[in-house]
Amino acid sequence: MNKCVYPGSFDPITCGHLDVITRAAAMFDDLTVAVLVNKNKQSSFTVERRMDFIRRSTAHLNGVSVDYFSGLLADYMEERGANIIIRGLRAISDFEYEYQMAAMNSKLAKNVETIFLMTDIANSFLSSSMVNELASFGGNICGLVPDEIVKDVLSKYGR
Ligand code: PNS
Repeated sequence: MNKCVYPGSFDPITCGHLDVITRAAAMFDDLTVAVLVNKNKQSSFTVERRMDFIRRSTAHLNGVSVDYFSGLLADYMEERGANIIIRGLRAISDFEYEYQMAAMNSKLAKNVETIFLMTDIANSFLSSSMVNELASFGGNICGLVPDEIVKDVLSKYGR
């Protein structure tokens, strides 16, 4: 059976991420959404909160679990015995970085494939950093992040 991992920062999960998770979960029985713990990068939400946000947003989906990893994704894939990496592609601008990462991961982890899902056009402009910026200025983030977490994201910015 295929074991899939959708890795990312998810700081926080957006509707674009949720769309990719929903579509991947419809195709694969075992999907882990894996949050990167990166000590060198300042994040807006702790890894625990990011995982909680994903759990609450995906509670209605079968076969989806949430985890975290630090270090190389290729090592995490091996540890879990997973063989497919899922990534969303928004626009041409994402492609170069994603292409390099997929090539590096296939060199580091034999028998691991990266599968790209094109993000829904409605979410093609969306990113976690934009959500954080919008929330910090009191903008409306409904429809940009899953309904379950709108209040939590706004309250972080005192809104
Ligand atoms: O949501 P993001 O920030 O675009 O996700 C990027 C992520 C977490 C998938 C990527 O940075 C990653 O896998 N980092 C772990 C280190 C690693 O394995 N890098 C790729 C090979 S050098």
